[in-house]
Amino acid sequence: MTASTILQVHALVRRFEKKTAVAGVDFVIREGEFVGLLGPNGAGKTTTIRMLTGLLRPTEGEIYYYGKVFSRHAREAKGFIGVVHQYSNLDRDLTAYENLYLHCILHGIPKTERNRRIEDALEFAGLADHRYRQVKTFSGGMKRRLVIVRALLHEPRILFLDEPTVGLDPQIRRNLWDLIVKINQMKKMAILLTTHYIEEAERLCDRVMIINEGLIITEGTPEALKRDLGRYVLEIFHEDGIEEQLFQSKEDALEALRACSATCKIREVTLEDVFLNLTGRRINV
Ligand SMILES: Nc1ncnc2c1ncn2[C@@H]1O[C@H](COP(=O)(O)OP(=O)(O)OP(=O)(O)O)[C@@H](O)[C@H]1O
Ligand SMILES: [Mg+2]
Repeated sequence: MTASTILQVHALVRRFEKKTAVAGVDFVIREGEFVGLLGPNGAGKTTTIRMLTGLLRPTEGEIYYYGKVFSRHAREAKGFIGVVHQYSNLDRDLTAYENLYLHCILHGIPKTERNRRIEDALEFAGLADHRYRQVKTFSGGMKRRLVIVRALLHEPRILFLDEPTVGLDPQIRRNLWDLIVKINQMKKMAILLTTHYIEEAERLCDRVMIINEGLIITEGTPEALKRDLGRYVLEIFHEDGIEEQLFQSKEDALEALRACSATCKIREVTLEDVFLNLTGRRINV
C-alpha cells in the first residue's frame, strides 16, 4: 500500500508584476517522505515554500493538504505544517527555553503540554544543557538547531526547511544533517528541503525535484536521476575548457581514459551533471 498523501500541489504559479517566480509546478508529498527541491539562486524555491506555508497567495493553481483546499482550510492545515524559513529568526534576548515557550503560545499548545514538549525538543536538539542561556550567546549551529526543533513543537506532519544549512561550515552542516535525518526517521515526519547544495540533496533526500526558472525540470531518486545520465564522467582538459563524456560503466570510461592523449580524469556523476545536461548551466556558479 502506498503511504497517504499529505500535500498535493497542482499547477502552482506565482507572478510578481512582470516576473514569473513559479511557473506551474505539480507534485505530491507523502507521509514520511524526504524530498529535496534543488535549484540555483532565483529558481523559485523560497516562493514555492512561502505559498505552501500560507505566507504568499498563489497567482494560479491549488494546494491541498490531506485532500482539502489549503486556502479554505488554512487554519486546520497549518497544524500539519512546520516551517523553517530561509531567514527564520529567534529572539536573541530570550533564552532557548523562552523562545520555545513563545512558539507554544503562538500555536495554542495547551499549558499542561508546553513544558514536556519544550524539554523534549531541547533534548532532541542536544541543547538541554543550554536551555536557560540567551540565544545571543549561541553559535550559528546551535541557533539553527533551535530554530528547527522550534518548528516541531506543535507536532506537524510535514516540515519545510528552506536552505537550512546555508552559510554554515562543513562540520556544522553535517551535525545539522544528522538532526534533520533523525527528525525524518524517528518522528516519521515528511520533509521538504530546499537547497542549492548538490551533496545535501544527494545525501539526504529519498527523492529530488530539480527546479529551474520556476519549473520542475526533472524528479526522481538521486540514484535514478544520475543513472539515467550515465554513472561516470570522463573530464578531458583542453586548453580552452573541459570536455565531459558520460559512460554507464567504469570499464568503458577507463578505456576512453587510456585512449585519451590530453590530461583526463574520471569521476562519478553528480546531480550537478544532471542539471547541466538539462539546462546547459551549473547550479552553483
Ligand atoms: N517579492 C518579490 N517581488 C519581486 N520579485 C520577487 C519577489 N520574491 C521573489 N522574486 C523573484 O522571483 C524569483 C524567484 O525567487 P525565490 O526567492 O523564490 O528563489 P530561490 O530559488 O529561493 O533563490 P535563492 O536560492 O536565492 O534563495 C527571483 O527572480 C526573485 O528575484
Ligand atoms: Mg530562497
